[in-house]
Amino acid sequence: MQIGTPLSANATRVMLLGSGELGKEVIIALQRLGVEVIAVDRYKNAPGHQVAHRAYTIDMTDDQALRDLIAQEKPHLIVPEIEALNTSTLADIEAAGIATVIPTVKAVQLTMNREGIRRLAAEELNLPTSPYAFARSEADLQAAIDAGIGYPCFIKPTMSSSGKGQSRITNASEVKTAWDYAATGGRVNQGVVIVEGQIDFDYEITLLTVRAKNAVGDIQTYFCEPIGHLQEKGDYVESWQPQAMTSGALAESKRIAKAVTDSLGGLGLFGVELFIKGDKVWFSEVSPRPHDTGMVTMCSQRFSEFDLHARAILGLPVDVSLREVGASAVIYGGHATQNLIFTGVEAALAVPNSDIRLFGKPESFVKRRMGVALATGTDINEARSRAKLAASLVVPVIQS
Ligand SMILES: Nc1ncnc2c1ncn2[C@@H]1O[C@H](COP(=O)(O)OP(=O)(O)OP(=O)(O)O)[C@@H](O)[C@H]1O
Ligand SMILES: [Mg+2]
Repeated sequence: MQIGTPLSANATRVMLLGSGELGKEVIIALQRLGVEVIAVDRYKNAPGHQVAHRAYTIDMTDDQALRDLIAQEKPHLIVPEIEALNTSTLADIEAAGIATVIPTVKAVQLTMNREGIRRLAAEELNLPTSPYAFARSEADLQAAIDAGIGYPCFIKPTMSSSGKGQSRITNASEVKTAWDYAATGGRVNQGVVIVEGQIDFDYEITLLTVRAKNAVGDIQTYFCEPIGHLQEKGDYVESWQPQAMTSGALAESKRIAKAVTDSLGGLGLFGVELFIKGDKVWFSEVSPRPHDTGMVTMCSQRFSEFDLHARAILGLPVDVSLREVGASAVIYGGHATQNLIFTGVEAALAVPNSDIRLFGKPESFVKRRMGVALATGTDINEARSRAKLAASLVVPVIQS
């Protein structure tokens, strides 16, 4: 493995497709290793744009726009950070030997659509999941619920993330609203929804799973300590590491995560989302990239999930060890504006063992994630209360 000099003919070039807060941290990790980074997003001044060597704003679902930019920039690695991409363009680019797609084109294609990844996990790999069905109309949806999914159930667009278009319903009178919301709330292929029976879990985790080269150059699977998290309306609000688990549940979680990531292949870090009850584990979904709940690793691990991803994709060895008990809590915009000011930062950073990240997003919405507070502690409770306190002390206001 060799790394060239950035901005010279021998530079090692990586292109991020999607440059939000997670991409921004991957870029910083790559920059530290002397990689030349090109950040791409669909809007100007995205978080990752602000820390890359070059920044572009294009429609990444547009075949020609994507092809032209890749031809111009000649990246060695292409790292998708979002799901709304033209994946057939990426398949062509890889097949033509122009660049390597991280972790693999298959992983990017299957995980961009809930149908692809769910069928892989449940039907091909025979992993335990919630009961599910796909529906293409409101009548289909009602029929699937009546045929066995039952209530309560979750209805989600097959192409969406961060809880967009998702609802939990408890009776038949809510089916129409849930259908309408899901069918219009998703991206790209509107109109296909998944309905899932509710899993009555004790807690849920993200198991960060890394496929990286070991000392002799073979791909090996490494597991970070499990991350526990709290979701509100399908969006993460708090996470902590390590989540205490029985040895049976941890072993089963690793088995499931290994099966899924082996099948997706390639090099890189994956966020495997799992539901746990006692020793029983259900697969929920997987990101073939750093995970939002994994932001806690910026304070809890020797190497954050972003450092690990950067190392793994470059073919470098990883160290997934935990350093300290940690927690993260989300900072929301609270206002819809392009002039947000964060007040109280000094109070937040006076909380013992705390830190914050402000993502630098040019536009704020009431429930848009604009930053995150991090904190360590002697135990999970202490770390969580510190992170929540620090997050609450950052008060976004509109400039008057
Ligand atoms: N079948 C289910 N049973 C119980 N809880 C569920 C189920 N499906 C979803 N949830 C809850 O909703 C949350 C979000 O669901 P999911 O991860 O599928 O959506 P998402 O839009 O991909 O969210 P994100 O992008 O934040 O991961 C889960 O973490 C879980 O708390
Ligand atoms: Mg999820």
